[in-house]
Amino acid sequence: MGKAGIPSAEIRQRVADLRREIEYHNYRYYILDDPEIPDAEWDRLLQELRKLEETYPSLVSADSPTQRVGAAPTDEFAEVRHRIPMLSLDNAFSEDELRHFDRRVRERLGVDSDVEYSAEPKLDGLALSVTYERGVLVQAATRGDGTTGEDVTVNVRTIRSLPLHLRGQAPAVLEARGEVFMPIAGFERLNAEASKKGEKVFANPRNAAAGSLRQLDPRITAQRPLDIFFYSIGAVEGIELPSSHGATLELLRQFGLRVSPEIRKVRGASGCLDYYADIDRRRASLAYQIDGVVYKVDSIAAQRELGFVSRAPRWAIAHKFPAEEALTVVRDVEFQVGRTGAMTPVARLEPVFVGGVTVSNATLHNMDEVARKGVRIGDTVVVRRAGDVIPEVARVMLERRPQDSQDIVMPLWCPVCASPVERDAEAAVARCTGGYRCSAQRKERLRHFASRRALDIEGVGEKLVEQLVEAGLVESPADLYGLTLEALSALERMGPKSAENVLNALERSKSTTLARFLFALGIRDVGEATATALASHFGDIDALMAADIEAAQQVQDVGPVIAAHVVEFFAEEANRRVIERLRQAGVSWPSGKPLESAAQPLSGLTFVLTGSLESMQREEAEDALRALGAKAAGSVSKKTSYVVAGRDAGSKLKKAEELGVPVLDETALKNILSTQRPPSSDGR
Ligand code: IVH
Repeated sequence: MGKAGIPSAEIRQRVADLRREIEYHNYRYYILDDPEIPDAEWDRLLQELRKLEETYPSLVSADSPTQRVGAAPTDEFAEVRHRIPMLSLDNAFSEDELRHFDRRVRERLGVDSDVEYSAEPKLDGLALSVTYERGVLVQAATRGDGTTGEDVTVNVRTIRSLPLHLRGQAPAVLEARGEVFMPIAGFERLNAEASKKGEKVFANPRNAAAGSLRQLDPRITAQRPLDIFFYSIGAVEGIELPSSHGATLELLRQFGLRVSPEIRKVRGASGCLDYYADIDRRRASLAYQIDGVVYKVDSIAAQRELGFVSRAPRWAIAHKFPAEEALTVVRDVEFQVGRTGAMTPVARLEPVFVGGVTVSNATLHNMDEVARKGVRIGDTVVVRRAGDVIPEVARVMLERRPQDSQDIVMPLWCPVCASPVERDAEAAVARCTGGYRCSAQRKERLRHFASRRALDIEGVGEKLVEQLVEAGLVESPADLYGLTLEALSALERMGPKSAENVLNALERSKSTTLARFLFALGIRDVGEATATALASHFGDIDALMAADIEAAQQVQDVGPVIAAHVVEFFAEEANRRVIERLRQAGVSWPSGKPLESAAQPLSGLTFVLTGSLESMQREEAEDALRALGAKAAGSVSKKTSYVVAGRDAGSKLKKAEELGVPVLDETALKNILSTQRPPSSDGR
């Protein structure tokens, strides 16, 4: 260090220039979302500044961009009294409640016309107050109880998108308020790393953000992907504030503070509701979690007139999405028997309203999952239902476990047919060994056989299958084709017209494809893709039925386990009989080997379709792609060749973008199907 020396005027100038430049590029990157230079160049500037500051320590200042992590760990946070209390918001949980809010606003203001509101996402993070004096960040504090919060300045300084200096002509004092949050991708990365190291994971991004902000060691906070959006101004000195909320947000942006790009001006209750619906639709594709939207009367004069009640303003309201998590009690656990005998533990719950519906059952997936979550009968659990996801037990509230809670045990005998239950050595799954003897398996197999992606027999769904099996009319899929008008019409709630429709649908289903037929048989682990591969490899069913494990393994993507399942299935006499009877009943498919798969135009390509298509059903499109030799998969991975995104595409589209998988729209898809050619390299 010895040669520290006194920096020349030139060096001083260079340091000042570097700081200004770095801050300018931060602004381009975080606020305008329009970076001017590559990341590597930004790194180089910071590196140069760091070097100079190391050589001339006298030049280091607390507000230098190199000093985000400046402070040493502390024992506790100091208290901060908010000059202006940090309030909370009233909630509306329904359209009615929102309309009521709007009506009261208009009554109090004495206006008939539509009120102008600022509509904003309600970020699910923590409220933060950040104070700048003469443009320099001096303090950041949590909301606390609204009057007194905690001083988290050293941690907040590590948030990359937060400027340490305001841009432009800064006022003497500016206290900006906003929400700190952790983007979902960052949260998932953080949890993945934690669980790899055997450390505790965070329950959700909000907890992760809170935990990160309240770290006593800012070096840890610095590694957490926190971000912030500002939504209001608290204390201020030395400037006049604008006359509308919208203009206030614009001012914050001009100072270089991040403001949500989703904020819109809307008119009246109907404008609010349109905004709500729009955000709700796009919710899954936002990079962060939100728990509703906030509407604020835009005119500051009107806000003043409306004033406050207790701790919340009369001029704003949070319109919340239905809660996605709720607490309830596990009354019992029953075991559901699936198509292949797999026994799934299902929690019977005290009914609870969550995610907009009443939930009284939640899957526990399998016994490993039960053990991992540590659920017992009698436990109070958190039930989660996100979007259209099946309700699941997220976690147990151990502190509420009753004395008489009971262990969940896999039964030794099937609760439906009393056959022995066996547990797969390799998988976590326990199975009923009853096969067709088990009425639960029979029903599930029939339902699967008739389902849309299998033989597509319209009208033969869960209810009818239940009736047919209970009445002893049908045991195997082959029995379906022996049904008569009389037998069907005799069933409850089945008129002659519906009975005839079912018979017609059965007739139509007889002409199918070998791939669909194989899928319909419900062979263990043979999904649509494997069924298609088997069909195109063997060309006809007799060749497949004659295959041994080695021959079956020649099929693309068929390994020893699936090959064994296939061979076992066809070795079973009962299954051969069913197949024979189905063929005798007239179930048939175009014979002969299709094109060698390598000769098909889309062979080797894997597509994932997501969102809804305008001109066709997703399944139709997938069938059409398969017919050209492509694979249609359900989830996006590095192996995916293309993702086709329809309307309201959500997480799969996001995943594709993350992995850099090319994304096609519906027009491009139609183009592929009509030209029977893969997309050209520019994705068109
Ligand atoms: S305005 C007086 N706007 O929600 C108005 N709050 O329930 C105070 N929040 O403590 C808040 N997004 O943590 C406002 N766009 C937004 C918001 C928002 C999230 C949080 C904030 C506040 C809580 C109130």
